[in-house]
Order: sequence, then C-alpha cells, then structure tokens
Amino acid sequence: MTNLAFDIAADGDDATTRPPEARPIPRITIQAFCDTPEIAGTIETAAMDRRMSRAHVKVHTGGINAATEFYRSAPTPNLIIVETQMEVDDLIVALDSLAEVCDAGTKVMVVGHSNDVRLYRELLKRGVSEYLVAPIEVMSVITVISGIYHEPGTEKLGQVYAFIGAKGGVGSSTVAHNVAWTMARLIGSDVILADLDLPFGTAGLDFNLDPAQGIAEAVFGADRLDEVLLDRLLAKCEDHLSLLAAPAALDKAYDFGEDAFDQVLEIVQGNVPTVVLDLPHQWTAWVRKTLIAADEVVITAVPDLANLRNAKSIVDLLKQARPNDTPPKLILNQVGVPKRPEIKPDDFAAALQITPIATIPFEPLLFGTAANNGQMIAEASAKTVISDAFTDIAQVVSGRKELKKARRRGLDLAPLLQRFKSKPKAKAKAKKAS
Ligand SMILES: Nc1ncnc2c1ncn2[C@@H]1O[C@H](COP(=O)(O)OP(=O)(O)O)[C@@H](O)[C@H]1O
Ligand SMILES: [Mg+2]
Repeated sequence: MTNLAFDIAADGDDATTRPPEARPIPRITIQAFCDTPEIAGTIETAAMDRRMSRAHVKVHTGGINAATEFYRSAPTPNLIIVETQMEVDDLIVALDSLAEVCDAGTKVMVVGHSNDVRLYRELLKRGVSEYLVAPIEVMSVITVISGIYHEPGTEKLGQVYAFIGAKGGVGSSTVAHNVAWTMARLIGSDVILADLDLPFGTAGLDFNLDPAQGIAEAVFGADRLDEVLLDRLLAKCEDHLSLLAAPAALDKAYDFGEDAFDQVLEIVQGNVPTVVLDLPHQWTAWVRKTLIAADEVVITAVPDLANLRNAKSIVDLLKQARPNDTPPKLILNQVGVPKRPEIKPDDFAAALQITPIATIPFEPLLFGTAANNGQMIAEASAKTVISDAFTDIAQVVSGRKELKKARRRGLDLAPLLQRFKSKPKAKAKAKKAS
C-alpha cells in the first residue's frame, strides 16, 4: 500500500521531529469528490497548507458517480480525488465510467475505506495514481500529491531557510551569512544567499564584495528573469556560495506588494538546492508571506524583554499559519553583554517553549573584526566555539542533525513580563515616597 507510515508530532514543539518530504505543489487544479465530511474536511485543511498555496483546490460532496456526472459537461482538472466506500467490483466499473469522461493528462487519486491489496493492484492497473485508505492525515494528502507531481528525476525545488531578527541589530544577518557560508562548505552543493534588506543589507560588505544590483534587478525585472539573467545577477562568494546582494542604495523607495518576490524566489529555488534568505526586521505583507512560505524559519533574538515579546508574536503567528510545520528555530545571540540586565536564556526559552538551537555569546572584538574585514567568523578567528555554533545551526536547520532532546519546561510568559515591567515602576514609587 502507499507509504503513509509516518508520525507528525501532535504538539509540534519538538525540534527533533521532521515532517516527511512534501515539496510545494505546483500550480495545478485539484477537485475532490467526497462521500464523508471527514475526508472533505481533511482535504480542505490540506488545501490551506503553505505547500498547497499555488494549487487551486475545490471540494465537492458526492463520491465517484457524482464526479462522473459532473465531468460529462465540465472539463477535468489536473487531479481528481475521489472518495469511495464501494467494494472492488463496483468500484472498478465506476472508475471505468469516470475514465471515459476524463481529459487526457488528468490524474486520479482514490481514497477508499478498504485495505485490500487486490483492489490496490486493480486500481494501479487502471492508471489510478494513488490509493489511500481512510482515515487520512492532512500531511499524508499533501505528501502523496507532492509525490505525484514530483516524480523522481524531475527537478526539485530548493529548500528555503528564512532568517529574521526579533528586533533590529540582534545579529540576524550576521548569523544568516555565516550559516549560508557554513552550509555551502558542509553540504558541498550550491547555496544562494539572498539579501532581502534592499536599502541597508550588509551581505555584500560581509563577503567583501562590491556586486551589482543583484536582488533589486531581479525583483524589478521579475518578468524578464530567467536562469541566464539570474546567473548574471549572482556574485560568487565561494565555491558553492553565491550572493544575490542588496543594492544598499536609497535612490529608490522599496515599497513592494505581497507577491513581489514570488517569481524571483521560484526561479532561485529552481536553480539551487539551498536558499538562505536574510530578511530585514520589518513587518510588511511580503516579509510575512515569505516567512510563512519558507521551509524553515530561524529567529535570532537577544535575551531582553522586547525580543521576547516580538519572538513570541512571530512564533505564535507562524504556528497558526503553518499548523503542519515544526515551529521556527530560535537562536539567542549577544548573550552576556557586560552590565546589561538579561533574561536568563533558560527562562527566555521556556517562555517561548522553544529550545534554542544555539546560544551565541557577545564577542564584540571577534564580530567587529570580522565585520570590518569583510570576513566570516571562521575566517577571522581560529577560536572554534562560535564557528562550531554556526556549524550546529547549519546542520540542524538543513535537517542533517537533530537537536538533542532538551528539558521541556513550560513557563508562563505573563509573570516574566510582569516582573520586568514592575521594576521601573517600583523604583519610581520609591523615588516619590522619598
Ligand atoms: N554575538 C555577537 N557579539 C557581538 N557582536 C555581534 C554579535 N552578533 C552580531 N554582532 C554585531 O551586531 C551588529 C548587528 O548585526 P546584524 O547582523 O546586522 O543584525 P540584524 O541583521 O539583526 O540587524 C553587527 O555589527 C554585528 O557584527
Ligand atoms: Mg539584518
């Protein structure tokens, strides 16, 4: 039978469980004819997943005979999903009638209620693409459709890892650049780093390159963009690392619509297996959309109250918008600034209920030297602790290594917020009283 033996973590906050390989579904039309509300509901939920955002899905009631009736007078979509409770012989007759009204190229997937090998073989013989046995999981539907439309040998879309800071200046770009560089060395296949902070991005500086317009030409000329033009816009940093640099010029304003980066990202993803996005700390429609669509989101935060509040907002939004994905990854950065009060990293992590994949100390000399010399951390110092952290991040984010199971300890955010808020008030009161 179809391989559906995987488990999705129910609580979703476990960084060690990885959903099965389901790549974004292309721009296809899918129509489902369902016998039961459960299957109709599952397909409707699947249609809302980020991987299905390009597909057009419509769910009808009525099973296979309703489908056959419907398509006598309507063109068939790319994929028809039919649910059926029929026994083998009736089902085969019904499928043959459906086949008569199907246009060439239409694929059929059947959801049945009987776990019968003979049935499965008969269906495959008749050209049915997949047979699933009810009840079905949301991710199973997506994975199976993904399998139908990404046959082995066809080009796979690259994985997209989006990096964003919980506040500005927390080191999200520094982390993104070092991780992209480490991934290129570690994985040994091509990585594109796209600097999406168009007015102020520092990727060009960090790699000591003075490249052309890069991302700006790509996004403003999206309708002309193809592999050849993309190749021209990329600046080579390393053997396997190329940069789509930000213009870092203020002659234009960069007010983009929600879909502005869709085409660029699709072409970039079609060209390399790994894409690292350095997102600015902004909340625009396109930033939000890009985060929701990414395969992994990495939030970098400094352990203070504003970072905690913002990180929590981003985590909550992503959990709600990506119910079938693992939560974002968290990196605590610039930990241990002298004389600066901090929320303890453990408390910070517990409040978010996410174990950080790395905790990076505040090392102004090292980071400052690397930044001013246009070097990566590993190039600027032989000291390994911090470059080891980037290796860990690269491995965990790309799924090559699992995060060690850490203590799970829930912590209510409210008292923590209260404790930090009440301090200055208490001081003010004390002042008044004196
Ligand atoms: N762990 C660290 N210790 C000291 N300085 C750091 C650290 N991480 C980043 N920085 C510095 O912080 C500044 C802001 O970093 P940047 O990556 O541009 O932040 P963001 O992209 O979040 O705005 C840079 O000067 C960078 O070198
Ligand atoms: Mg930045």
